[in-house]
Amino acid sequence: MKILVVGSGGREHAIVWKLAQSPKAEKIYCAPGNAGIAQLAECVPIAATDIEKLADFASQQSIDLTVVGMDDPLMLGIVDEFEKRGLRVFGPRADAAIIEGSKVFSKNLMKKYGIPTAGYWEFADAESAKNFLKRHKTYPIVLKADGLALGKGVLICQNEQEALAGVDEIMVDKKFGQAGAQMVIEEFLEGQEVSVLSFVDGKTIKTMVSAQDHKRAFDHDQGLNTGGMGTFSPSQYYTEQYQKEAEEKIFQKTVDAMAAEGRTFKGILFFGLMLTKDGVKVLEYNARFGDPEAQVVLPRLKGDLVEIVEACIDGRLDQVSIEWEDNAAVCVVLASGGYPVSYQKGFVIEGLDAFKDHQDLLVFHAGTAKNEKGQYITNGGRVLGVVALDTTLEKAIAKVYDHVDEITFDKVFYRHDIGRK
Ligand code: AMP
Ligand code: GLY
Repeated sequence: MKILVVGSGGREHAIVWKLAQSPKAEKIYCAPGNAGIAQLAECVPIAATDIEKLADFASQQSIDLTVVGMDDPLMLGIVDEFEKRGLRVFGPRADAAIIEGSKVFSKNLMKKYGIPTAGYWEFADAESAKNFLKRHKTYPIVLKADGLALGKGVLICQNEQEALAGVDEIMVDKKFGQAGAQMVIEEFLEGQEVSVLSFVDGKTIKTMVSAQDHKRAFDHDQGLNTGGMGTFSPSQYYTEQYQKEAEEKIFQKTVDAMAAEGRTFKGILFFGLMLTKDGVKVLEYNARFGDPEAQVVLPRLKGDLVEIVEACIDGRLDQVSIEWEDNAAVCVVLASGGYPVSYQKGFVIEGLDAFKDHQDLLVFHAGTAKNEKGQYITNGGRVLGVVALDTTLEKAIAKVYDHVDEITFDKVFYRHDIGRK
């Protein structure tokens, strides 16, 4: 098969790496990809959001299967366009990707179908949001821009003054652009946050092993929110009790709810769960693999990802058995100084060769390129994800930190406490 992967981050490197192990994968393309992905796939210089061009490319090259890694093209209707042209593609259509693309939609869906989530209020203008806040007495409280905002449209406010300023940021100053045309204000939840990803074929759902993300830039959860500074899998907090509860109240119910709404969901459905003392609640849905969750989950998947993806597309996921390694994985992200605010690009990366022949030590590239001398250079804020696998979480943590310093570049930084939630 000729396979096309859409995206350019560490997540897409992990997806390409896993697809490449399939005996069915003859040739893999990635648009636009990065320098690490180029070791396994032919990178094609088409932006992930340039849907027309991607569909033209897939037609011209007779691509047998396209896997969409990123959220934006899904929301823009890449799956609809590919299907219209008779191209085989894995991911939700735009009318189902809205489960990630609109917080107002996803909160209303959960309310309508009785899926546990934080209590909330929705607003279409700043004045009514502010009037609500002036009457509200419980803090902290959470403000969310309705639409996609690179994971940044969420403000946790400690008091009324902060919350009023937050409404201005979202709805008046439009700091997150059109994403702030509507907003949700919701109850603040306390607990451990766990990511559970799943394969969905429209009716059947099969969840993957759990993971946890470290979102803040620095050790001990200091600094700004980032796209994710590291992950580990499985989560020790996601006990059988919580899993059973989520299976009863959340997973299948969400898939059924989407089908009942006429928005059949096929693809990767990502549940951001909060394990609270009152039970498990949904914080958010994503319509794709997490980044950097994919980097710790996919290496634990036994068997053939191409087969699972095809079963999802064909609606026969119930006939496929999906198995996982009984081990643990940790991913430490190497970032460039200044991330997530502003950072330079183009620093030469040394030490990657040492990681070439390890089965249990992997490097997924997130933001890299090559210079004219053929050296790897930094090309983003999150540069690389170093992943270690071992029999236990403790051993995987020890292994990853034994090796991260072998990779160096100017202004590199990473967290030293990944896996230690
Ligand atoms: P979201 O994009 O909805 O996942 O929000 C981004 C992050 O904000 C989450 O990963 C949580 O860490 C935090 N967050 C979102 N909603 C809440 C909530 N209701 N209570 C506490 N923290 C939240
Ligand atoms: N790591 C969280 C996300 O991919 O949204």
